[in-house]
Amino acid sequence: MSDLLTQLETLQHEAQSALTTTQTREESEAWYRDYLGRQGKMTAVLRGLGQLSKEERPMVGQAANVIKNVLETALQERQALLEQEEITRTLSAEGIDVTLPGRAQQVGKLHPTTVAMHEMIDILVQMGFQVYDAPEVETDDYNFGLLNFLPGHPAREMQDTFFTTTPDVILRTHTSPGQIHAMREFAPEPIRVILPGKCWRNEDVTARSEMMFYQVEGLAVGHNITFSDLKGVLLNFANKMYGEGRRIRFRKSYFPFTEPSVEVDVDCIFCNSKGCRICKYQGWLELLGAGMVHPTVLKNGGYDPAIFSGFAFGMGIERQAMQKRTIDDIRYFYENDARFLERVS
Ligand code: DAH
Repeated sequence: MSDLLTQLETLQHEAQSALTTTQTREESEAWYRDYLGRQGKMTAVLRGLGQLSKEERPMVGQAANVIKNVLETALQERQALLEQEEITRTLSAEGIDVTLPGRAQQVGKLHPTTVAMHEMIDILVQMGFQVYDAPEVETDDYNFGLLNFLPGHPAREMQDTFFTTTPDVILRTHTSPGQIHAMREFAPEPIRVILPGKCWRNEDVTARSEMMFYQVEGLAVGHNITFSDLKGVLLNFANKMYGEGRRIRFRKSYFPFTEPSVEVDVDCIFCNSKGCRICKYQGWLELLGAGMVHPTVLKNGGYDPAIFSGFAFGMGIERQAMQKRTIDDIRYFYENDARFLERVS
């Protein structure tokens, strides 16, 4: 009997140390089959019971049961430990470190030209102007002839205009040809339209001029429209665009399609007309060109100049954005350097 008890004790120790080497649930289940299963080592030892006396058998049987219970408890603990370790492993492998700084998403923005264009359109729409879409590719006639440019006018010259391979078809050099399109569509009804869009000029690119740029054109045609209407619209525009209390001034100028023609300035928003680097110590910033629509242009648009009158104005969009946001080089706009776009819009 004592031999059998020793075997059981040895088996217990062997089983306990084997259990600590199991690393997975599968291994621990194999361990169970090895030691406590029906074909296992415990069963093998207990085959020796048959050689014992009736009195001895229950004592060894009891001892075996105690060992079996101890080992089963040990197995449960081992499995619980393995499971915990597995959870910890998964958590640390798949876990999210909430203390890490986030990666900011790059969100797109409107281009500074678009922002300025929307701003200008909003102001003018509030004054009753409607947006009218005119072609960017024009005929020579619309861009020049119908706007009263004489055949030899310097603006028609090669260095200014981008021609196409189709005779007479050009890229518009200003938004003014849209005036003719709008008038021809609506005459003889009175109109108040603005025409925003792209223009091209075959010029050297410098800090102040690009080959492609944007303008907004304005046109009002009706009965009894006077120069003071033009003045009121532009003063209001300057106040809405550059802040209340702005003043504007008119300088006489020349454009073939307006008579009289003026260039309009707004008092410098940075120095209040005292003179600074931005206004080049002039106290004034250039706003736009404007005038009363030339009778010939009214006629070309389908209005009788004896009955109708009108005013027109045209301004560069990038220029307004530059003046408002102190951008000193127009080339930044279309170089697509994200740092500029980030800073400005
Ligand atoms: N088209 C002119 C330019 O590009 C700007 C301009 C001046 C437009 C006077 C007008 C105007 O409508 O009346 O320089």
